[in-house]
Amino acid sequence: MYINDDVKYIGVNDKQIDLFESLYPAPNGMAYNSYVVLDEKIAVMDTMDRFFIDEWYEKLEMALNGRKPDYLIVHHMEPDHSAGIKYFADKYPDAVIVSNKQSFPMMKGFFGDDFADRRIEVADGSELSLGKYTLKFVTAPMVHWPEVIMTYVPEMKLVFSADAFGKFGTLDVEDNWVDEARRYFFSIVGKFGVQTAKLLGKIEGLPIETICSLHGPVLKENISYYVSLYKTWANYDYEEDGICICYCSVYGHTKAAVEKLADNLKKEGRKVSIYDLARSDVFTVLADAFKYSHLLLASPTYYGEPFPFMGSFIQRLKERTYKKRKVYLVENGSWMPNAANRMKVALDGLDIELCEKVSTIRGAATEDITIEW
Ligand code: FEO
Repeated sequence: MYINDDVKYIGVNDKQIDLFESLYPAPNGMAYNSYVVLDEKIAVMDTMDRFFIDEWYEKLEMALNGRKPDYLIVHHMEPDHSAGIKYFADKYPDAVIVSNKQSFPMMKGFFGDDFADRRIEVADGSELSLGKYTLKFVTAPMVHWPEVIMTYVPEMKLVFSADAFGKFGTLDVEDNWVDEARRYFFSIVGKFGVQTAKLLGKIEGLPIETICSLHGPVLKENISYYVSLYKTWANYDYEEDGICICYCSVYGHTKAAVEKLADNLKKEGRKVSIYDLARSDVFTVLADAFKYSHLLLASPTYYGEPFPFMGSFIQRLKERTYKKRKVYLVENGSWMPNAANRMKVALDGLDIELCEKVSTIRGAATEDITIEW
């Protein structure tokens, strides 16, 4: 991948991975990005996941073309990017490790070495000159670990953005950036919207023409579009007026009821997505719940509680401080419907507009569910 004459891509496509971070499905694999900035001094931007260090090193050596790196810039200590730090340090004993001071105890934790005799600690606003290029460091705490930094190169109007602006998927698959970036954001960074918004405030005034994330493609066009989407997500604003309908159904009656509602809403011209929580990836559903302005949760009563998949979904929403949405509840119970009461308790504390009217089904729906938009 060509970025410019002085920034080389040395990342790797992981096509073997099933669950990123052992949790999030990665059907199109994952890209772990790493870069080299070539100047009078050479800076390597992050290392690699443990399974791909050899492949990464080969690419690094090709990019170096016989030269030796002066600096390793560590933007983030999560092991999908940091696993090769010790390997790098051993291969290039004269190179200096550059990172936020919070990173070095983590290096000690992972590698038993905090590189005390060959490190530079940087803080917000620190600069490091490579020659014609300057690395300006921006701290990005909790986006999405506490030690994260980004690097802005003003001479190139380029930012190395750590995990921000990343997505699922290898770089050689054709998919929709916004869908996979949204799923990535709300799966991994979504709990830290406030911190992400602060970071966006810090970089807002910088002229940016290129974003080099640790995952996903290098962004070179429509930068304002990507930044604006990130603002929407960080502020928990919705992208589209529409509804995400999430249901559980044991014998199909709750399913039939909400499918009928979905059909009716579509006839009214509403945008609708609908998911069976027992048969959908919870994080894909979560991303859609954040995409739309309205959410409907429909569940049978099971041991006096919502169906287990519903309980788990609400917990995922709470972890990410779901807010600014109108939420409707539908329950089913043939002898003692109680799912809505328990869903209300589970949703308590979220800054949502919970519709007071609950639709209760006693077995099969005898009339259409309606909602007040
Ligand atoms: Fe891609 Fe937070 O590591």
